[in-house]
Amino acid sequence: MKDPPRDLGDTPPEEFRRQLHELADWIADYRQNIEAVRVAPNDKPGAILAALPAQPPENRETFEKILGDIDRLIVPGMVHWGHPMFLGYFGWTTTAPGILGEIITAPLNVNAMTWRTSPAATELETLVIDWIRQWMHLPQEFGGVVYDTASVGVMHALAVAREEAAPYVRKRGLVGAGAPVFRIYASEQAHSSAEKAAIALGLGEENVQRVPTDTAFRMDASALREMIARDVRDNFKPLAVIATVGTTSTASVDPVPEIVRICREFRMWLHIDGAYGAGFAILPECHSLTAGWNQADSVVVNPHKTLFVPLDFSVLYVRDLERLRRVFTLVPEYLRGDTVEAQKNYMDYGIQLGRRFRALKAWMIFRSFGREGMAARLRECIRLAKLLAGWIKSDDRFELAAPVSMGVVCFRLVGRDAALQRAVGAARRPYRDAFPGEQKIEKLNSEIVERINGSGRAYFTQTKLRGRTVMRIGLGNVLTTEQHLRQAWEMIRETADDV
Ligand SMILES: Cc1ncc(COP(=O)(O)O)c(C=O)c1O
Repeated sequence: MKDPPRDLGDTPPEEFRRQLHELADWIADYRQNIEAVRVAPNDKPGAILAALPAQPPENRETFEKILGDIDRLIVPGMVHWGHPMFLGYFGWTTTAPGILGEIITAPLNVNAMTWRTSPAATELETLVIDWIRQWMHLPQEFGGVVYDTASVGVMHALAVAREEAAPYVRKRGLVGAGAPVFRIYASEQAHSSAEKAAIALGLGEENVQRVPTDTAFRMDASALREMIARDVRDNFKPLAVIATVGTTSTASVDPVPEIVRICREFRMWLHIDGAYGAGFAILPECHSLTAGWNQADSVVVNPHKTLFVPLDFSVLYVRDLERLRRVFTLVPEYLRGDTVEAQKNYMDYGIQLGRRFRALKAWMIFRSFGREGMAARLRECIRLAKLLAGWIKSDDRFELAAPVSMGVVCFRLVGRDAALQRAVGAARRPYRDAFPGEQKIEKLNSEIVERINGSGRAYFTQTKLRGRTVMRIGLGNVLTTEQHLRQAWEMIRETADDV
């Protein structure tokens, strides 16, 4: 067959084949040599944009030139989340099966909106969702849907809660349906997606009430109960509780069984945010994490955080998925021909019509690693977190700032003075008065993170707990070994000496 003219059709097949081979080498080299690159750039904002042509190209440019620019301008301008010294957030990971899955998904480029437009994508999605459900020990009555993120998941879950508490909101809107002022409860450590969902659903950001936490940063269930009872007296309508299993800062786990009882008493929706923590439920020794989940109305799990799937892949489970479908199904005439009533059309389960074929990459990873392989990797991340905690405890300049949970370690430089004063009991006084220079200590903790991130040799984050700045390391990258962690810890100790 004759190739079409250059300005029509696609790249000629032989040229494309050559490019793919080159790209295969590029990807393999990137992964193999990832430790040679800086984890994060230290460019000033705008520097990358300034180096790129502002005008769109008029004529074709070659693959070689484009790839050359990627090497020259884009790769050095990236934070390399897959780098073994990237210890930020939840220790993000990239895996070879995940990359292969993304590559295969690209040429298929299907739209998984209805069964008829993509039967295999739809059915594989159903299968993968059910595999994860089994690993999470959720009863069969839970059905799921894949979204991009947990933030989108919680918004959809609360939309169902809202519709069930005030039927006809879907048709008439909140005011038309005479809806009361709803209240949603989440711990002060819960993710800000709770407020984002309330904003999107017209429930009002202020109606997300933050519940205090205990010393281990878990929701205080008796405070929750009191807040709900007070709101009932004040004519608010308690709608939902978001219980977190693996909070963003410390990976703390809310007391779900107690929260279940409160939700039943006040007839409220219970959403479990297991975006980070739920993945650990595949470990038999972490089974207790799932206590009470079978009583929830919805559960969100982010396999792109803990189950090794590349961004993005989040699953929302709803007990009786039909409840979600009722709120969002809507079939315009132009799609009727492509909707087969008896089959699952995933466009019915959310606001998105066009949907990526996300299930393929997850299926490839789950098959390539097996549950055993995933469990072994998660176990290693817990082991590394505990190891780091041990090193922190044995250096009296530092203290753990929260109990170590899953792969997350929060810690703080306190300085030798503080350690000394603690030893003589000064720490029994309020922390701020414990010793002079507390503000300076605050700055030093930030400075250590900034200096190390700025060096390009490692990357981690800082957060605030009870008003104090703490350093935070998240483990989870399959490339991060004990050796890498030791290097990072040495870097932290040396930087602490310097500052
Ligand atoms: C506990 C928790 N919930 C929800 C989210 C939001 O996740 P996503 O980025 O998938 O929206 C995060 C993000 O880090 C999180 O830590």
